Amino acid sequence: MKNYKRFLITAALPYANGPVHIGHLAGVYVPADIYARFLRLKNKDVIYVCGSDEHGVPITLKAKKEGKSPQEIVDRYHNIIKKSFEEFGISFDIYSRTSSKTHYKTASGFFKNLYEKGVFEEKVSKQYYDEEAKQFLADRYIVGTCPKCGYDKAYGDQCEKCGSSLSPLELINPVSAITGTKPVLKETKHWYLPLDKYEGWLREWILEGHKDDWKPNVLGQVKSWLDDGLRPRAVTRDLDWGVPVPVEGAEGKVLYVWFDAPIGYISATKELTPEWEKYWKSEDTKLVHFIGKDNIVFHCIIFPVMLKAHGEFILPDNVPANEFLNLENDKISTSRNWAVWLNEYLEEFPGKQDVLRYVITSIIPETKDSDFTWKDFQAKNNNELLAILGNFINRTTTLINKYYNGEIPQPENLNDDDKNVLEAIIKQKELVEKNIEKYRFRDAQLEMMNLFRLGNKYLTETEPWKHQKTNPNLTKNILYVSSQIAAAGAILAKPFLPFTSEKIFQILNLNNEELKWEDIKEEVLQSGHKINKPFLLFEKIEDEVVEKQINKLKETKKENSSKVELEKKDEIEFTDFEKMNLVTATILEAEKVPKTKKLLKLLLDLGSEKRTVVSGIAEFYKPEEIIGKQVVLLENLKPRKIRGVESKGMILMAQDAGGKLVFVSPEEKINNASKIS
Ligand code: MF3
Ligand code: ZN
Repeated sequence: MKNYKRFLITAALPYANGPVHIGHLAGVYVPADIYARFLRLKNKDVIYVCGSDEHGVPITLKAKKEGKSPQEIVDRYHNIIKKSFEEFGISFDIYSRTSSKTHYKTASGFFKNLYEKGVFEEKVSKQYYDEEAKQFLADRYIVGTCPKCGYDKAYGDQCEKCGSSLSPLELINPVSAITGTKPVLKETKHWYLPLDKYEGWLREWILEGHKDDWKPNVLGQVKSWLDDGLRPRAVTRDLDWGVPVPVEGAEGKVLYVWFDAPIGYISATKELTPEWEKYWKSEDTKLVHFIGKDNIVFHCIIFPVMLKAHGEFILPDNVPANEFLNLENDKISTSRNWAVWLNEYLEEFPGKQDVLRYVITSIIPETKDSDFTWKDFQAKNNNELLAILGNFINRTTTLINKYYNGEIPQPENLNDDDKNVLEAIIKQKELVEKNIEKYRFRDAQLEMMNLFRLGNKYLTETEPWKHQKTNPNLTKNILYVSSQIAAAGAILAKPFLPFTSEKIFQILNLNNEELKWEDIKEEVLQSGHKINKPFLLFEKIEDEVVEKQINKLKETKKENSSKVELEKKDEIEFTDFEKMNLVTATILEAEKVPKTKKLLKLLLDLGSEKRTVVSGIAEFYKPEEIIGKQVVLLENLKPRKIRGVESKGMILMAQDAGGKLVFVSPEEKINNASKIS
């Protein structure tokens, strides 16, 4: 491994079109923050940069919807986001924004540099144009059916259902997201980054050079992109919000948001320090991009190609992308308001930053998607933070105050148990360190907590309060050892629980600023050092508190389901309809498809024959309650193998916006195989 002199940590710039939620925190900002705080504690030269991503279609669309200017929208959310990050203790060295002057200059200069080197390909092509809005429809300005999975709300740049990256021309039945009209094709000129020319280099750099240190999920995605074959990618757009394309003949065009946004990392560094080049242009710097999995292609392929083509910049040493966090078993969604918003959390749980930080760290989706639930939040606060960490600090410091007037006692003849416990300080320190260096923050936090667990167990087993009268030396030894665990633990906890760590330092009468990672030793507190009176670090979270949050989410579900909007589709001919053979059928048997959550395998009575159909309704109906039910079947749908079961046909269900499914059934019993028309 390389011996780096300094660290440059970036966290994906959040779009300034809404507040940040727990999904963002778990995927990006909390892990990056732990990493940055850890390195600072180790006295490393480190900067942690971020800022708001203020361009892109989601922002202009939101502005249009609210009748505001894009600038008003980004101003509002930039401030909300910045403030909540600060309050939450995300320790950016700078939180900038891509509408800043420095950024415009930097992004524009970057483009020009590549342009002058002849890196781009210039191409005139036909693109969708909305004649009513008089505007080209790039990216999210256009919606239609995904050619890969059939999802009917796919965007021009991506299908959020199956994750495929798309181009507007691939969409089936495209419509304008602005006016809902059918767009026409019109010629326009754009500049393309020839990713295809860098394929060999990318393979070598990532798939060879980083095959052992990058995460499997990241390598897997990169490999599949490369195996699919890279194509030149347009880095300009016909939009009026963004960084203007700085070349002649590009009037009315701006840089593609994914071209300018990552340059935002560089602009932010420039704003932070005049020595920014030391971070970006020296091979002694370790650059690490913290992102979510939907950003992998941009940080592992497009931005590196930009940096490589430019030639003066370093490349990331690692891109530890995380998977997604769900909320109460459902995908987090801004449009469905299915999220825990950081700004709301901070208002509703004042002073409880570390509780959320702790819970989030314990479920970072490092290798697969994970789930946040309020019950788990409550349990981890009550059974771990309070019962283990809080309890240990409280017992130790209360007893030292009571027996020794707050002075750390002098130990004498420590026994093997005591020594073992002291040695665990070093062991746990090394484990935490090893895990953080490998970007395994969940395990790192677990090992930090294990030190307190051990301390707690030690106190419970040695019962110092029982020996105070009969063998005061024994009590002294135990409390000396416990106080070392408390102090070392406070430093160990600092990257994860900065607010709590600071409180423990206060109780122990230690200077937060002075203590560094290397001070985690068997003796942190000397005998005779005077500590303060303890106060509570955590309070119990009652059932009512989390029930309130769960009810809030239930309300959201209800609101979503009542908000069904008629979805318009293109006209069809009667003959199109006639192609579908819709008939009645009765469910004879139903059973769950093993190892699936949603699927039921159904046997249907179709009069003259029986049919097996697999249906995704298991979350709404129990097998036993639907036997005998008469339903409508699309009989001639092409058979499909689903989880090894051949499914012939599809049962018709009605689905509301909240995702709830109900059968479409005949009003009264009628013969099976009756035709529906
Ligand atoms: N705004 C993007 C998102 O939320 C992330 C941008 S990261 C950067 O997905 F590299 F472009 F800055
Ligand atoms: Zn799709």
